[in-house]
Amino acid sequence: MKSIIKTAKQFAINGSIASIEPYGNGHINTTFLITTDTDSQYILQKINTSVFKDPYQLMDNIVRVTTYLKNQVASRGGDPDREVLGIVPTVEGDSYTVQDNSAWRLLTFVKDSITFQVIDDPKNFYYAGKAFGNFTSQLDQFPADTLFETIKNFHNTPSRYKDFEAAVERNASGKAADVCDEIEFVRQRKDFCSLFTDKIKDGSLPLRVTHNDTKLNNVLFDKHTKLPVAVIDLDTVMPGLSLYDFGDAIRFGTNPADEDEKDLSKVFCDLELFEAFTRGYLEACGNLLCPEELEMLPYAGKMLTLECGMRFLADHIAGDVYFKIHRENHNLDRARTQFKMVKDMEEKHDQLTEIVQRLIKEIL
Ligand SMILES: Nc1ncnc2c1ncn2[C@@H]1O[C@H](COP(=O)(O)OP(=O)(O)O)[C@@H](O)[C@H]1O
Ligand SMILES: [Mg+2]
Repeated sequence: MKSIIKTAKQFAINGSIASIEPYGNGHINTTFLITTDTDSQYILQKINTSVFKDPYQLMDNIVRVTTYLKNQVASRGGDPDREVLGIVPTVEGDSYTVQDNSAWRLLTFVKDSITFQVIDDPKNFYYAGKAFGNFTSQLDQFPADTLFETIKNFHNTPSRYKDFEAAVERNASGKAADVCDEIEFVRQRKDFCSLFTDKIKDGSLPLRVTHNDTKLNNVLFDKHTKLPVAVIDLDTVMPGLSLYDFGDAIRFGTNPADEDEKDLSKVFCDLELFEAFTRGYLEACGNLLCPEELEMLPYAGKMLTLECGMRFLADHIAGDVYFKIHRENHNLDRARTQFKMVKDMEEKHDQLTEIVQRLIKEIL
């Protein structure tokens, strides 16, 4: 705790530290809530540098994007201090500090805010769609190609496919022979993997600023009104496709079961939830998406889910080196839920398309 206090003192905080406690349910960074004797509150985070290798580039992206967002929110009469993640500089004016080989940052704490871990009311998923759609809308004119690509090829599905084949070839765990059906499932969809990247190459899908971690618990909601306040967790902000943000939200959010559920009968794409998120998203940013982006929306969930599934399967075959496991075959179980989702989305493709088309007509 002493060293955490020492770290916190590197930042330009208001008052003296009265308490520091672990906070939130994040899985990537280590998060603390700091309260001072003047009743100011902050979020202190140790950045996970095994995932994010270059904290300088990561923080540079975040500072530039949040500065831009604050101007946008202010010019529309909103409250930039509440609606946009605030970065508190160090006493030397830097956006983060390095202590004992770890990078730390301080954020302003959004008071009276809550996060939801699971979707027990489709309305919350609708609001998440609005919040992430707003994020896209506010950053529409930001020059995406000036941001650092902090994790190379993050959602480049053909590149993920290559990594997957390399893992099968190497077969470090010796388990490849036991998962032939799963390997075949991915291989049958090889051509599909390049659907979006081909459209980036021919210029029909534009690069945008994307959030890349569009989970429900990365939206802060107001404790009282239950309305969305701010999009947080901007570590993976990078140049990308709107379809990545939309698709990843659909991947995790429309499955009513856990990501590692063993009973696959519980795993499916819930159409009511799909409609809720899509409605919120289109209300917020549908008017600025180009025809090709709108056309591809029904494929986005499948793309991101297939990509995620092949990463889990590749890691299982590689001997569980990237995703932490808590039981035997954990990554295989995770891969299987993703593939079940992919299959269900394929079977429901016409319904997904119908929902998207109907909402486009209704909203745009
Ligand atoms: N500025 C903030 N104000 C209030 N709560 C926050 C703030 N930033 C993070 N949190 C809380 O901490 C949790 C973890 O933070 P997050 O940045 O999402 O880290 P991770 O990458 O580990 O998910 C969030 O889900 C939220 O509950
Ligand atoms: Mg988070």
